[in-house]
Parts: sequence; C-alpha cells; structure tokens
Amino acid sequence: MTYKAQSKRYTKLIYRRCGNSGLLLPPITLGLWHNFGGKNSMLNESKKILFRAFDRGITHFDLANNYGPPYGSAESNFGKVLNKDLKKYRDELIISTKAGYDMWPGPYGEWGSKKYLLASLDQSLKRMKVDYVDIFYSHRFDPLTPLEETADALAQSVKLGKALYVGISSYSSKQTLKMNKLLKQRGVPCLIHQPSYSMINRWIEKDLIKTLKKLGIGCIAFSPLAQGMLSGKYLKSIPKISRISDNSSLDKKMITESYLTKIKQLTKIAKKRNQSLPQMALSWVLRHKNMTSALIGARTVDQLDECLDSQNNLIFSSNELKEIDKFAKEENINLWSKSSKD
Ligand SMILES: NC(=O)c1ccc[n+]([C@@H]2O[C@H](COP(=O)([O-])OP(=O)(O)OC[C@H]3O[C@@H](n4cnc5c(N)ncnc54)[C@H](OP(=O)(O)O)[C@@H]3O)[C@@H](O)[C@H]2O)c1
Repeated sequence: MTYKAQSKRYTKLIYRRCGNSGLLLPPITLGLWHNFGGKNSMLNESKKILFRAFDRGITHFDLANNYGPPYGSAESNFGKVLNKDLKKYRDELIISTKAGYDMWPGPYGEWGSKKYLLASLDQSLKRMKVDYVDIFYSHRFDPLTPLEETADALAQSVKLGKALYVGISSYSSKQTLKMNKLLKQRGVPCLIHQPSYSMINRWIEKDLIKTLKKLGIGCIAFSPLAQGMLSGKYLKSIPKISRISDNSSLDKKMITESYLTKIKQLTKIAKKRNQSLPQMALSWVLRHKNMTSALIGARTVDQLDECLDSQNNLIFSSNELKEIDKFAKEENINLWSKSSKD
C-alpha cells in the first residue's frame, strides 16, 4: 500500500527557528543512529516509525555516513523509503548527514580533511539517492587538521549544491567561535550545532549554549534521553530488548547506584507534572529559548508517540526547575567529550 501522509500533520507541533536563519525545525527530530540499519529493519517497525513521525509533524530526520550497522545501511534504508513513499514530500523534509568518524579504511576514511568530507558526502547522496542534503555536518572536531580545511570542505559542499546548510557537532565553545568565523569568511553561515545534552549530561550549560545564542547558531541536542537511561527501563534489571542488551553504545556499567537514585527522584517530579520521565526530560531540554530541537531515537512507534506527547507540557515553574536541579546531575556518560575538550 502506498503511504499517504496525514493531512493535519502541521497542526501538531510548534516549529522553532534555527538560530538567526530562515529555517524552522520541529521541536522533536528523529535520528537514525540505532534501529534503522541492517537488511531487514525497513520491513517492520522502523518504517512505521518514519511514517508516524512525519504524520505527527516531524519534518527533520538526522543521519550520518556510518549509521547502521553496517556503516551506511541507515542511509541506504532511509533512501529506499524516501524514494518510494516520501518522494513527493521531499520539499517538506529536512535531511541531515554527517562525516567525521570512522567510515572506510585508510587515511582518508575519517576525521576532518577535505578529501574525506567531500568523498563521504558524495557517498551519502548516492546511498540516499538524493541530489542534496539539507544539512551537512562536521561530525567531530579534528585537532590535527587545520580548521580552515574543514571549513573549506563544508563551504564547498554548499557551493557545489550538495548541501543547503552546514553544521558542526560536539565542538567546544572555543572551536565553535573559530569555525563560525571561518565559515563566515567563506560566505556560508554556520546554521546549527549538534551537541549531546540531557539531564545527566549538562556540559553545554558551561558556555556552549550561550555562545550559540550570541552567534545566532541553532542548537539540536542529541541523546536527550541519555540513550534511554532517562526512563524507568533500567530500574529493576536490564530488559532483554534495550540498548544495553544490544551491546552497542550503552554499557551496563553506566547503571550505577547514584544513577538509579537520580532516576527514582526525577520520576517522582515528572509524575507531579503528569508526565513520564522521558517526556519531562525532553520538555526540560527544550526549556532553553535557543534550543531548536531535541534529537531523539526510537525503537518503537509507542516510544515515539510518548516522546512527542512531551509537547503537551513544556512549561516549568521555578520551583520545579530547582527541584529538578537537585537530581539532574552529571553521570559521566558523555561518550563524545573528547571531541569538545579543546
Ligand atoms: N552528533 C553525534 O555525534 C551523535 C551521537 C549520538 C546520537 N546522535 C543523533 O541523535 C539521535 C538520537 O540519539 P539517541 O538514540 O541516543 O537518543 P535518545 O533519545 O537519548 O535515546 C533513544 C533511546 O531511548 C529509548 N527511548 C526512546 N523513547 C523512549 C520512551 N518513550 N520510553 C522509554 N525509552 C525510550 C530507546 O531505547 P531502547 O532502544 O533501549 O528501547 C531509544 O532507542 C541519533 O539517532 C543520532 O541521529 C548524534
């Protein structure tokens, strides 16, 4: 059966301006890091998640060259759905991809050289069978490549018509200031920054979020549910179907006593707000006026629906925020901290 999008899809979310740009993004974006790779994922729930997301007003889908496993398969799978079912909606979609991490063997298969970034973008376009992506990111800061070269590659992606906008991910405040200047000199503004951020990973509050506001760059926070840790799923044991059991990017060592105490307390606060903990975690990330979007992952349509329902309660009283601050403390879970340390 051919997919037909819900006619009322744009009545549900309040879109947010991405920094000082002309681009509006949905408050919740769907990422395809997990659950969209491999051979069979698009035969089942993953495809339904994409349709449900679009039906509920999510216009932005976030990918990267190496999402899978295997590398590239999330882009290929997304491309299949895009070209079959979502083709006529292409102008309603914001598709992003990135390059920076390990993708292919040899010296040109990762980091921030022009050689790697532009070759990777070409591969992404081929896998997704699109002429351009809406946003192309430098996925991580490369301390050994001149930032000018990475900026050249990003700017060139726009000049060649292969990307409409560019962004950076997991750059420190200092390197963001530098990259912003370099991109400006090349006539291509830095649209957006994609850092990790959640109730138990608050590094961007030190200076990055203020820098982004000052520079007029949008902010899209990834892993706002701390890869699922900001839910009740790990309170009693490790469920068989969960990211920890998948043996991937989340380690059971992260389930500490200090973590469990925080989750129990935060769940009580969420309940008083008539929200689940994942819902409160998303509303909380979006409490910053210059937070453009919370970039979630979902394994099921039900998870996606629950996350989107966070939008029914976005207001926090100052007392609630104070109470949350008692328990929303660092848990040493930022796997991407190396990229932003310089
Ligand atoms: N720029 C970067 O370096 C970078 C790095 C990482 C991610 N990202 C982007 O950010 C996106 C999101 O990352 P993420 O998947 O880590 O985000 P997340 O939203 O923090 O975690 C998603 C996971 O949380 C669980 N979950 C989601 N909704 C739930 C609900 N309602 N109740 C209970 N559990 C729920 C699911 O875990 P289970 O599978 O255990 O059910 C789901 O797979 C990625 O797809 C990618 O696009 C970017």
